[in-house]
Amino acid sequence: MAAKVVDAEYLKEIEKARRDLRALISSKNCAPIMLRLAWHDAGTYDAKTKTGGPNGSIRNSKELAHAANSGLKIAIDFCEEIKAKHPKITYADLYQLAGVVAVEVTGGPTIDFVPGRKDSTESPEEGRLPDATQGAPHLRDVFYRMGLSDKDIVALSGGHTLGRAHQDRSGFDGPWTKEPLKFDNTYFVELLKGSEELLKLPTDRVLAQDPKFREYVLLYAKDEDAFFADYAASHKKLSELGFTPP
Ligand code: HEM
Repeated sequence: MAAKVVDAEYLKEIEKARRDLRALISSKNCAPIMLRLAWHDAGTYDAKTKTGGPNGSIRNSKELAHAANSGLKIAIDFCEEIKAKHPKITYADLYQLAGVVAVEVTGGPTIDFVPGRKDSTESPEEGRLPDATQGAPHLRDVFYRMGLSDKDIVALSGGHTLGRAHQDRSGFDGPWTKEPLKFDNTYFVELLKGSEELLKLPTDRVLAQDPKFREYVLLYAKDEDAFFADYAASHKKLSELGFTPP
């Protein structure tokens, strides 16, 4: 594409798509899976080789078939409805916009969205997204590879305040909070309570155990404003991995 991806017309389309996404996400109650789509497109980034990242490649059938992406076809198809109305918008921008809107319409913080991501047809090899059965060293390996920090790991894990696991997708089952369509800090509150009726992945549990992660868990459980501020900053970073705004 020519250097100028983002002109006045493109920005207008982004604002229209934002409105359409708000309506779609509210009517389908699909905020959780839209957020998971945005995260899984972005979370393959490798800072060393500058490959992967929020570039729309998750829509390619090979990448969509990676075990970690089980179930995400639903979100890809929802986004296709918006893409049909706003064909100018890249998939890379559309998926990240969907993630930002998902957080916003469920009561979460406003996340700054800068458009201009380019689409890629090249998918990274399988295995770049985190494995829920592992511990703190694995989480650090994966997120440091993206160029993210301990604080980003804990803040972004708060995304599990939305949605649930599905037995037939990941082998895990159930929601992390009692209100999985509300974006708030209860993921951290429930994590500290340790109650057994709500889901805790092994990678969730380690956040309350590892001394450095635990500091942020304690802060976010008692101070929702601190969580929202850090979450918005970390989510923006995730959504812009490898992306230099035009
Ligand atoms: C769901 C793992 C980080 C957002 C899930 C599921 C697993 C998982 C196993 C269940 C999938 C299913 O069965 O449907 C992990 C691991 C992470 C991680 C190991 C490492 C820290 C994140 C991050 C975000 C996120 C950073 C967003 C900022 C979500 C959402 C769902 C979900 C919203 C619910 C999807 C739905 O309801 O359909 N995650 N995740 N996760 N994840 Fe994560």
